[in-house]
Amino acid sequence: MAQNPLRVLVTGAAGQIGYAIVPMIARGVMLGPDQPVILHMLDIEPAAEALNGVKMELIDAAFPLLKGVIATTDVVEACKEVNIAVMVGGFPRKEGMERKDVMTKNVSIYKKQASALEQHAAPDCKVLVVANPANTNALILKEFAPSIPEKNITCLTRLDHNRALGQISERLKVHVSDVNNVIIWGNHSSTQYPDVNHAKVTTSSGEKPVRELVADDQWLNTEFIATVQQRGAAIIKARKLSSALSAASAACDHIRNWVLGTPKGTWVSMGVYSDGSYGIERGLIYSFPVTCEKGEWSIVQGLKIDEFSRAKMDATAKELIEEKALAYSCLG
Ligand SMILES: NC(=O)c1ccc[n+]([C@@H]2O[C@H](COP(=O)([O-])OP(=O)(O)OC[C@H]3O[C@@H](n4cnc5c(N)ncnc54)[C@H](O)[C@@H]3O)[C@@H](O)[C@H]2O)c1
Repeated sequence: MAQNPLRVLVTGAAGQIGYAIVPMIARGVMLGPDQPVILHMLDIEPAAEALNGVKMELIDAAFPLLKGVIATTDVVEACKEVNIAVMVGGFPRKEGMERKDVMTKNVSIYKKQASALEQHAAPDCKVLVVANPANTNALILKEFAPSIPEKNITCLTRLDHNRALGQISERLKVHVSDVNNVIIWGNHSSTQYPDVNHAKVTTSSGEKPVRELVADDQWLNTEFIATVQQRGAAIIKARKLSSALSAASAACDHIRNWVLGTPKGTWVSMGVYSDGSYGIERGLIYSFPVTCEKGEWSIVQGLKIDEFSRAKMDATAKELIEEKALAYSCLG
């Protein structure tokens, strides 16, 4: 039987990530090859013409799963009855701008979009915030959409997770799909902590810990961490543009696992509302290892945390606490 289409909102859809993600969604990369979709694309007035160009291309691509496209600059129209909201639109930090000025702009965008989602989205809408500062934008969205359950509001750290998998796979010359259970803790920023203490590789002789196979703690504790933390900057340097393809792909991975589940025995990293697990202050949007089943995520419990990890997990939490305070000070 044909499934009913799901409505997927992409904000900032005329931007780089928007251009990369909408064809992925329309091809079934996000919600599976049997799930029809209706795309809701939102951008701001100066980008309206470009947005319409993206809509024209979506029509021209004749995607079998794409049952409709809405391209709009009206946030209410964009949010109407959406089941999934991927929040990519935001105000980027420009040279010479103070952090507080950028935060003020984003707080005001996320406050407004939170209300529109709360009033017009489907009641069980799942929200993924991609735009930076992703964790804090998600927190603002949560604060200003109190009727959306906090478990439905997340932010993207899957790109960092996938980058960590990629680095281990390159180092060990194994396929990336054989590497599992890395963890990104904390903020989607350079204080994030990519942790391989529980990561495994599937080999012909069974599962092996990444630490044992790499056999170079010095590399894992320094260069590996820095490479993952700084990967975004390295891409900007090489491409003169920020990562869009990998960010779009990671956003699809995030939603697909959230909706359709994580494979047994594996977890992924998601920025989610902290319930105090691992001693992380409640109420922050913090990246944890999670498993997903039946459309719900749960934080993986009981992992052993050594002193090195503890310090790094606390440092990134501290940055999020500071960002939260800054965001609140911007609420005028
Ligand atoms: N979490 C992650 O892993 C991750 C990875 C890469 C990029 N990012 C972030 O994602 C965001 C988008 O990146 P990009 O490269 O696509 O940027 P971009 O500048 O190419 O696109 C952003 C789009 O958002 C639109 N926009 C601005 N304000 C808006 C509003 N109020 N409502 C709707 N749309 C609005 C802009 O007009 C633009 O089209 C940035 O904040 C970037 O830092 C996050």
